[in-house]
Amino acid sequence: MANYLVLGLFEEVSSAAAAIEGVRRIGVPDNRVSVMSGTPIRSKLLGRRPARNWLGLMSLLGALLGLGAAVTLLVGAPLLYPMYQGGQPLIPIPPSIIITFELTMMGTMWVTFGGFWLLNRFPRFGRPVYDPRITAGMIGVLVEADEGRAGRVVDLFKNGNAADVQRVGARPQIDNRAWGRWLAVVGVLLGLVLIIAPLFVYDVIRIPFGTQMDDQASVPYDGGPRLAAPANSVPIQGPVFVSDQPATQPVPANPNSLQRGQVLFDINCALCHGPKGDGNGRLSGFFTPKPFDLTGAPVQALSDQQIFTVISNGFGVMPPLHENLDVEQRWDVVNWVRNLKK
Ligand code: HEC
Repeated sequence: MANYLVLGLFEEVSSAAAAIEGVRRIGVPDNRVSVMSGTPIRSKLLGRRPARNWLGLMSLLGALLGLGAAVTLLVGAPLLYPMYQGGQPLIPIPPSIIITFELTMMGTMWVTFGGFWLLNRFPRFGRPVYDPRITAGMIGVLVEADEGRAGRVVDLFKNGNAADVQRVGARPQIDNRAWGRWLAVVGVLLGLVLIIAPLFVYDVIRIPFGTQMDDQASVPYDGGPRLAAPANSVPIQGPVFVSDQPATQPVPANPNSLQRGQVLFDINCALCHGPKGDGNGRLSGFFTPKPFDLTGAPVQALSDQQIFTVISNGFGVMPPLHENLDVEQRWDVVNWVRNLKK
């Protein structure tokens, strides 16, 4: 079979074309002839059919792959796992168009890139037949032929204005076993990563990277000792009732406060507790238990702070009202509730 390589170097496109034509007449099939040149030369100029390759088809396949991925993500996932969207469409069109475009482009480009490597059989090992003069502007015609034909090709090139003709045993310099070695090295590296990565993932190996949080003395949420609050500090999360530590009522029950308290009570409490606070507001029928009679002894026995806390945080089915009343207004209401006492 074809086990000899002949490389002819030509300075003119026309002489290269003539040489290729001669090679064809000798009976070497076109796919055993390759042309190398520093600048691309149209196959037509050399009298050859344009080289076919799979790159275009590969790109198309990549585009379809990307498109498929986009459709799977955008349509498949929401249909498989429908989620409550708050009235928004499950598959929103405008962002979907963008994502579809991006993924299609990504598929095209990655597959084209990979396909280019694949078609060029990258990586190549060993030294392929080449001559630096090709880079300098000459046209190299490489012919693969059996011994008898190779001799005739050499003669043909020499008679056909070839600047130089080289003849080598076929593919002596291409080392196909290097492929095996290359794959082995890549495989070993991948294997190492696969073995080493879990060591970090599962904390077998820990690298104590400093984080600012770690550098601080911390108190676990559910563990002691609790840090004592500095003296005179107030809770900022909102009012809390601390038993046995009655705070003093900060808003004195003067006529002004009572007047404000009455108005605020009418707005915020009367619907449930009634304008007189007896628990017969218009909404009282809707509650079980009914809104308490604020004039009665049980409520009046509560401390100011307890009533304040009930208004702030709610109590049982009574809603919290801290969003409706600021702190001072709540104390005004407390004063008014005291005033309701029979
Ligand atoms: C939406 C209706 C509603 C509003 C508004 C409301 N309450 Fe009440 N309140 C209730 C109900 C119902 C109860 C009984 C809750 C229970 O026992 O589960 C109650 C209980 C109470 C108690 C008794 C708490 C205790 O510890 O025994 C007080 C005091 C009180 N409300 C004061 C007020 C004040 C003051 C306001 C206005 C700032 C107010 N409530 C606004 C429904 C309301």
